[in-house]
Amino acid sequence: MARKKLIAGNWKMNGLMEDGIALAKGIAQEVKAFGKSECEFLVCPPFTLLASVKKALRGAKVALGAQDVHFAEKGAHTGDISPLMLKDLGCTYVIIGHSERRADHFESNELICKKAVAAHAAGLKTVICIGETEAQRDAGKTIDVCKEQILGSVPDDSTAADTVIAYEPVWAIGTGKTPTAKDVEEVHAAVRKVLAKKIGKGNANKMKILYGGSVKPSNAKEFLSLPDVDGALIGGASLKVADFMAIAKNASENKK
Ligand code: 13P
Repeated sequence: MARKKLIAGNWKMNGLMEDGIALAKGIAQEVKAFGKSECEFLVCPPFTLLASVKKALRGAKVALGAQDVHFAEKGAHTGDISPLMLKDLGCTYVIIGHSERRADHFESNELICKKAVAAHAAGLKTVICIGETEAQRDAGKTIDVCKEQILGSVPDDSTAADTVIAYEPVWAIGTGKTPTAKDVEEVHAAVRKVLAKKIGKGNANKMKILYGGSVKPSNAKEFLSLPDVDGALIGGASLKVADFMAIAKNASENKK
């Protein structure tokens, strides 16, 4: 089953206008130079940079995504952004349920699912994040936690065309610590199995499952060569053009 790898940058709450535009321009230039690419690219800047980054990416095959969305179409939701507003800015993706939102904003599986339904209805693709905390891992609950998050936060009618899953162990985010390749493959394979039950084997086999958590050029190959790893969701290393592109290079060298 050929699944094209997705190399996705989650810029989180980083970048003022000048840095953001420079980063996007740098990525656009490199992606153009990359030639016919064996992977897909996505960048998810903060809301404030979406419009400018869209402009800076012009002509390059790099998709634009946001880092969160509200489930309502419009209305009295101070500080929130709707799926249609993201579409309007040229976004094609939105990250939903990142562990930082689950933790900082108390987002539940139920809320994440509602957001995903709304995003899909507006024609946005979602990157739905799952992953266990260190305590859950130590208690041997990694697969159970991921299973529960998949069952609760992925809409029943999700397809490989509108949904990407990102497995990000919370303890590996921004820490430099990573699971072993064997652990990652085990979780990804289990996630695909749960997806098969939930949305059917056909969709589950085509759906991209990304790994995220301290991905950098030096470890990218190890993860991106695993059979059930279809790309990476990159935080810190996506803020440097050279690192982001070095990770992508590993994805292209690992055709499955
Ligand atoms: P780091 O790559 O900085 O560990 O962040 C991963 C992440 O949370 C991406 O969404």
